[in-house]
Amino acid sequence: MFSDKTVVITGASSGLGEALAAGVAEAGGDLALLARDAGKLAAVAERCRGAGARVVDVPGDVVKAGDCERLITAALEEFSSIDHLVLNAGVSMWARFEEVENPELFSNIMDTNYLGAVNCVRPALASLKTGGGLITAISSVQGITGVPSHTGYCASKHALQGFCDSLRIELEGTGVDVLTVLPSWVQGTDLRARAYGGKGESIGGEARRHSGGAVPLDRLVQKVLRAMRKRRRRLYVPGYLRRGPLLKALCPGLLDRIIRKKVDR
Ligand SMILES: NC(=O)c1ccc[n+]([C@@H]2O[C@H](COP(=O)([O-])OP(=O)(O)OC[C@H]3O[C@@H](n4cnc5c(N)ncnc54)[C@H](OP(=O)(O)O)[C@@H]3O)[C@@H](O)[C@H]2O)c1
Repeated sequence: MFSDKTVVITGASSGLGEALAAGVAEAGGDLALLARDAGKLAAVAERCRGAGARVVDVPGDVVKAGDCERLITAALEEFSSIDHLVLNAGVSMWARFEEVENPELFSNIMDTNYLGAVNCVRPALASLKTGGGLITAISSVQGITGVPSHTGYCASKHALQGFCDSLRIELEGTGVDVLTVLPSWVQGTDLRARAYGGKGESIGGEARRHSGGAVPLDRLVQKVLRAMRKRRRRLYVPGYLRRGPLLKALCPGLLDRIIRKKVDR
């Protein structure tokens, strides 16, 4: 499915990024991977090499434009072209707005989830245009609706969603497509434990457990890889979330009540 394709993935040291890298490797693709934790990233790269992929791993921070340029340069030096850019690196929060003691939390989340994506698209775009590539942004259903205790996270995903939807229109006719992925909660990643609490620290062991409705990681990976192959423009997981925008337009108060109930539970 990805044979002879080069796939660049940010945030590949754990969770969805790691699982997508493994899925691409098994499907015959080559990989350029970035995350800050060099040890964990090297272990993921080794696992993907074990599945037959050629892999270049670049320890780095998406907040730093220079690190994103190094990632793209390393991918081009190793593989000559980039077919897929997967914007996956992300951080979350779990605190109500009034509980946040240090407002830097909001800029940290915005810098990672939104500007981190911009930092990667800029240096990759020329190569993506040459080969008719695909940009896949791991957004969230929180990119189209509000959720309590997630003000900064929702804002960053709305920014990412708006950036991608605008970029898609600008790129019409260039051969480059843009896919945004909007999952609900996902089981089996580190996002929740590493989310910022009100004091700006990762909430770790205090993370709330997932409800039964959370999406299993392996199911999400299969759906994302399929949507990439089909070059879709938007993927909701689970699929019923695609009704969200209509509900928001027609009955916004009802949608708010449904979301509040889900989070309270
Ligand atoms: N889990 C969910 O419920 C859920 C739902 C919807 C959307 N998503 C989205 O899915 C994506 C992946 O999250 P996940 O659930 O797999 O969580 P995760 O296991 O915590 O993975 C996040 C990844 O992002 C990397 N990262 C964080 N900040 C970074 C930075 N500044 N520079 C480079 N890499 C950075 C982390 O690695 P390092 O710390 O090593 O840098 C890690 O590899 C995120 O964009 C998230 O918003 C998750």
